[in-house]
This record gives sequence, structure tokens and C-alpha cells, in this order.
Amino acid sequence: MSDRLKLGIVGINWRGSDIKPAIDATGLIDVTAICATRPDRLAEAAKTLGVEATYTDYDRFLDEADVDAVFLATPMELHVAQSVAAMERGIHVLCEVPAATDVEECRVLVDACQRSDAVFMIAEQYNYRREPAAIAAMAERGAFGDMYYAEGEFNQNIQSILDKTPWRRRWQVGVNGITYGPHSLGPVLMWMAGDRVTSVCCAGAGRRYRDGRGELLELEPAATMLCRTARGALVRVRCDLLSERPMGVHYQLQGTDGFYDRGDLWLRSRSADSEQSESLDAVAESFLPGEYLEAEAKCRTSGCACDDYLMLHDFVESVRRGEAVTLDIHQAMDMTLPGLVSQQSIAQHSAWVNVPDSREF
Ligand SMILES: NC(=O)c1ccc[n+]([C@@H]2O[C@H](COP(=O)([O-])OP(=O)(O)OC[C@H]3O[C@@H](n4cnc5c(N)ncnc54)[C@H](O)[C@@H]3O)[C@@H](O)[C@H]2O)c1
Repeated sequence: MSDRLKLGIVGINWRGSDIKPAIDATGLIDVTAICATRPDRLAEAAKTLGVEATYTDYDRFLDEADVDAVFLATPMELHVAQSVAAMERGIHVLCEVPAATDVEECRVLVDACQRSDAVFMIAEQYNYRREPAAIAAMAERGAFGDMYYAEGEFNQNIQSILDKTPWRRRWQVGVNGITYGPHSLGPVLMWMAGDRVTSVCCAGAGRRYRDGRGELLELEPAATMLCRTARGALVRVRCDLLSERPMGVHYQLQGTDGFYDRGDLWLRSRSADSEQSESLDAVAESFLPGEYLEAEAKCRTSGCACDDYLMLHDFVESVRRGEAVTLDIHQAMDMTLPGLVSQQSIAQHSAWVNVPDSREF
């Protein structure tokens, strides 16, 4: 690989285009090709993204395009097949969330990663946001003590885009359970480093919403799963893609020496009185690593999203140095598998169901 990573973007609609300012801000990546299904959209995107090589056929793109890596921003049911096809050609993969749509697909993906020298990283940019990153820095120093409870919530009403993106009708709201878990679980598992979810139990608030044709959606609003972890912690995850409300992403963490809840922080090391919480905003800077603050300043100047910038930076640096990526295949599985297994739980009247460990596949 030369000094700059040659990246192909696959899927150039919402997410695939959204990330371009952060790609440019890294100064480490050239987008050398794009691939998507609609020729009219491709031509338009080629102009705005400043790319000449365009493809409508993914296999042809992999065989012909001059790329070291691909960013997969395609419908979620394509992630595994497209990741495997890239890695079989030695092309590195940065894949959008979730990594897969069922447990069998997870096995296929893990197997492909084991057979390939190419890198696979899950593009969970929420792990790089200011709030999760600051809490991660505290947790790493042991500031929360024994972390035994956490919450992750991702609430975004996607009803208005179901008709425009039919894959969402099938894969995001056509399946009951936590269909889209990584944004909620990713940061929580980063804080509880080394732990993983071993079983889940899932329930929802009843099927209430209909699609444009009047069919009742399979996904229940307020779908919530409880997770037991290997170290005995409890995690509550809510992924609500239907309720009519503003978008909201919230996290909570409870340990023996501290708690964090939607901006409110208490650490025993800073105050003996657990009634005296402080604002995370007020203290985050003293915990965030210097590189994080430098990246924030750079992103403010260039006007790009800092979480995307840091995620891309991590990916490129790992590929360049031949080092393990932060959000590798097992991290990807740890944030994807519980939600997929929750679909079995909710179908079995909220029974507790074991979550397989991808390290033992
Ligand atoms: N990380 C985030 O915050 C975030 C936000 C939105 C979406 N996503 C994820 O990003 C992915 C894309 O979401 P979106 O909202 O941009 O979807 P979208 O439907 O708006 O765009 C999908 C793109 O994939 C292309 N595509 C479809 N089939 C293809 C194929 N066989 N080969 C090549 N290209 C193909 C389409 O032409 C289109 O350009 C999804 O996996 C979604 O879960 C993540």
C-alpha cells in the first residue's frame, strides 16, 4: 500500500456520501472508485465526490477498480456477502452496521476473516463520539470500579424512509427484536472492555405501526433487550426505530465507584457524596486523550464529523501498520450477535437465549 489508502465506496446514498468530508479531512485516503446500483445516482455522486471510476456491478468493481479497501454503505443484508467477496480478493473492509443479519451469516463472516489476510473492521462510529470516548477513558482508569450495569438506547423513527429504502422494510422493521443493536451496544462494550454478552431476553410494546400499504409492521416499538454478560453484569438495550419522537441516543453506566447517566457523572474519586453529580461536559476534556482533542479541533475547522474522522483514521493507520484494528471481527460480532439472538427471544415469549461466542465458532 502507498502512503494514502485507495478506498472504494460501495453504496453512495445516505451513509456512503455522508462520510466523504471526514474521509477528506484525514488526508490519508483517496476515494478511487464508487459502486452503487442506480446509474443516474452514480453519475451525480461521481461529480459531488470527485471520483471518475464508477461501477454498477460489485464483482466487476472488485476485479477492476484500483482499491486497497472498501467502505460498505449498502443495505445490511448485503454486508456479509460483500465483505467476504472483498476479503477473498485481499481487499480490506470497513463495513457499516450491523455486520450481519443472522447467526449463520456471522459464522460465514468470521470464517472468511480467518481465511483472509485482509482487515475487517466494523464502522461503529458511535464508539468514537465525545461522550462514549470520555467515559471509556475514565473506565479504562478504573474510575467506575466494578461495572455491573449499563444502558444503551438508539431511538430513531425511520417510518418516513421505509418507502424510499425498501430493504429497511424487510430487514429493520420486518423482523422483531433488536434489529439494529451496534449503536447501543458498541459504546457499552467498549466501557466494559473484555466482557461480552452471553444471553439475552427481549420484549416489545406490541405491534402498533403499519407500512405505506397498511400492513402491520413486524417490529414492535420500544423493543428492549436485557443482556447478561460473562462477568455477571446486566445491560439494557433499547433500539426503537418506530416510535414518534425526536431522535435520541442515550447511555448509562453504573459501577461500584461511579455512575454516568445522560450527561450526569459521579465518581467516588472526585466526590465522596454520591448525591453530588457533575456534568460530563465540564470534566470530559480532562479525561479525553490529547489526540482526541486535537482531532476535534481539526474537525471543527474542516466541518466534518469527528467520530467518522477518528474511525477512519483508526482504520487507515491499522491497515498501514499491519496492526490489529480496534473494532475487529470479534468486536463486530459482540455488538451484532446479541441483537440477532434477541429475535429468537422475542419470538419465544421473551425467553432467555444464549449468545454464541464468535471466538469459538
Ligand atoms: N453508522 C450510521 O450512523 C448509519 C447511518 C445510516 C445508515 N447506516 C448503515 O449504512 C448502510 C446504508 O444505509 P443508507 O441509509 O445509506 O442506505 P440507502 O438505501 O440510502 O443506500 C444504499 C446504497 O447501496 C447501494 N446498493 C444497493 N445494492 C447494491 C449492490 N448490490 N451493490 C452495490 N451497491 C448497492 C444503493 O445503490 C445505494 O447507493 C446500511 O447498512 C445502514 O444500516 C449507518
